[in-house]
Amino acid sequence: MKVGIIGGTGGIGQGMALRLSQTHTVYIGSRIEEKAQAACELCGYALKVLGLPFDLLPTTNQGVVDESEIVVFSIPAENLERTIEGLTGLEGKIVISLMNPMIRTDFFKYNPPEDGSAALKLQKLLPESKVVAAFNNIPAGKWQQLSEPLDYSVCVCSDFDDAKERVMELVNSISELKALDAGPLAVSPYIEAITPLVINIARFSKMRDVGVYFK
Ligand SMILES: NC(=O)c1ccc[n+]([C@@H]2O[C@H](COP(=O)([O-])OP(=O)(O)OC[C@H]3O[C@@H](n4cnc5c(N)ncnc54)[C@H](OP(=O)(O)O)[C@@H]3O)[C@@H](O)[C@H]2O)c1
Repeated sequence: MKVGIIGGTGGIGQGMALRLSQTHTVYIGSRIEEKAQAACELCGYALKVLGLPFDLLPTTNQGVVDESEIVVFSIPAENLERTIEGLTGLEGKIVISLMNPMIRTDFFKYNPPEDGSAALKLQKLLPESKVVAAFNNIPAGKWQQLSEPLDYSVCVCSDFDDAKERVMELVNSISELKALDAGPLAVSPYIEAITPLVINIARFSKMRDVGVYFK
């Protein structure tokens, strides 16, 4: 599959690129193409050292939309409107939201927008795209630890069955991730809210890379 990551230079974006580019074509997108180039070089070097194959290309966020079948929004949720304003051609595309809006007080708290969740807001902003919430609960550090399997459950929800199936296929192609159909996009607030929960558990229980596995 051709997968592009808007904000692909961040911790999650580079981690996803490291895993996905071994079996898919991945475009790392950025507001600044040179930043995407640097992230690609870093990821490419790490993969080359391990003798792993990869197909990884730098581009702008608009380049991601132009080239990809699946577009991942991997930016802080509060920057959605401004980012989308600058992009064209998202109509008809599968768009993944892994964004978890939260605030930090003396603990991490889910802080959804008025629409109910980042994914629901994204669908409202992009009525002609097929938004799928997925990959919300995997820590960036775990994506990046290539020596270890990625063995979490991935809750996937969307109002578009074809898009959901395609994304579940993508999930199941990565290491030992297991996609679970969580229903319509209206379920996304519950999925996003798991992330502050696991971060609080990691912090207060002194654990690392806490994630979820449902069985
Ligand atoms: N970190 C985690 O463990 C984790 C786990 C699950 C889900 N998530 C979610 O994944 C998303 C990305 O997380 P992250 O930790 O990778 O975030 P991040 O490093 O803070 O940001 C990711 C990228 O977003 C772009 N960005 C930053 N500010 C922006 C702005 N004002 N407008 C447009 N783009 C901007 C930047 O790319 P350029 O400067 O190159 O454009 C940046 O590299 C978040 O929504 C987060 O909730 C994170």
